[in-house]
Amino acid sequence: MPTPVDTPLRLDFPTAERLATQYGTPLYVLSEPLFRQTIRRYKAAFQAAYPKTELSYASKANGSLALLAIAHDEDCLIDVASEGELRGALAAGVPAARCVFHGNNKDVLEIAFALECKIGTIVADNLPEIDHLTSIWRPCSTKVMLRLAPGVDPITHEKIATGQEDSKFGLNISDGAAEEGLRRALAGSLPVAGFHCHVGSQLLNPEAQIAGGEGLAKFAVSMKSRLGYTAEFINLGGGLGIACTEHDRPLDVETYCEKLVARVKRILDEGGLQPILGQEPGRALVGECGLTLYTVGAIKEVPVTGGRRRYVSVDGGLSDNPRPALYGAEYRVESMRPSAEMARATVCGKHCESDELFPNVPLPADIAAGDLLQVPCTGAYNSSMSSNYNRFPRPATVLLRMQGEPALVQRRESWAEMFARENLPDGLRR
Ligand code: LLP
Repeated sequence: MPTPVDTPLRLDFPTAERLATQYGTPLYVLSEPLFRQTIRRYKAAFQAAYPKTELSYASKANGSLALLAIAHDEDCLIDVASEGELRGALAAGVPAARCVFHGNNKDVLEIAFALECKIGTIVADNLPEIDHLTSIWRPCSTKVMLRLAPGVDPITHEKIATGQEDSKFGLNISDGAAEEGLRRALAGSLPVAGFHCHVGSQLLNPEAQIAGGEGLAKFAVSMKSRLGYTAEFINLGGGLGIACTEHDRPLDVETYCEKLVARVKRILDEGGLQPILGQEPGRALVGECGLTLYTVGAIKEVPVTGGRRRYVSVDGGLSDNPRPALYGAEYRVESMRPSAEMARATVCGKHCESDELFPNVPLPADIAAGDLLQVPCTGAYNSSMSSNYNRFPRPATVLLRMQGEPALVQRRESWAEMFARENLPDGLRR
């Protein structure tokens, strides 16, 4: 491991210009040393807080095969939430045995595929899934975990809160569904290894994850006394937030793991349980390891009450970063060209929508078409949530390897790929 790399990933002007010229913009850029360093730091922090731990990488955050291969090389399990994500892990050389299969509505074919691949763990999300698993189960190496809804309401955007009782995810502890699920799974001879919860994402306050973990620990203790069942694994999910802007103040991972584990462990100790504890972060592992480069295009100013507003349009938009539109997410935007005078501007994409990416951000007063902008902290939930809206080709991704040398890990989508699924039925073309 070379000298530690600063977080979040940022490029200097010559590097940004070189990459933009070679690969075009918008361009996602990722750092391999930073990703490895972030995984190692998370693991060390977790391990310092608890003796038996397991770290998974939530591949939905960024499923680039290169990242999956690196996470696997760093001994992470891979959380997959669909057959497609499982196929991605397999294509990256991750053995199915190292994958954990999530989903609130896995269909029978996806489950059959996962079992055929000898997936490591299936996380059963609801009673019908447990019934289905018991009906098809044959002795095999796959473990089953139960996803529980611990009934906690995290402080985050409502669209990424999942731990509350009123959620499509997991078996509610409070209404007895979790206990009923465990009874059915045990009666059906499923190899239930333990319990899982994931309460929400981009959490800057750890209270929800801690309360969720406590809920799981209490449930595990009560199942030991009520059913004589001993949980071997408890997974506390992901969710730790990152600082996308200077206003975000997430806990550092060491403090987070210490606080999370301390309260969960107390309950487990009192109940005489020593399970392996797992965590399953996505954003906290990869978010700061990636940035997006854009090129400035049209610039215009409009009169608004009390002054003028400047719109700076870039060559991407909600197709490469839907998070501002979906969750009101904010980011820092940095011009690659230093300037003495700064002025506020609204950075927009080029979609046929208002497509405001970054409202009211400071940019050089003399910003001009052709300038490069970098947006740090876009490693998570940007590439993996990108789309072809307005027939924009999805951007390329470049991975900066251990000595900083660039490697293309996803090329820009071609026009042929864009139209590959289309079929014009006979007689329609005039
Ligand atoms: N485990 C499970 C079961 C999950 O559902 C998720 C995220 C994670 C782990 C990882 O969570 P993280 O550590 O990344 O917060 N698209 C949204 C985020 C959705 C997260 C969904 N589940 C966004 O852009 O903010």
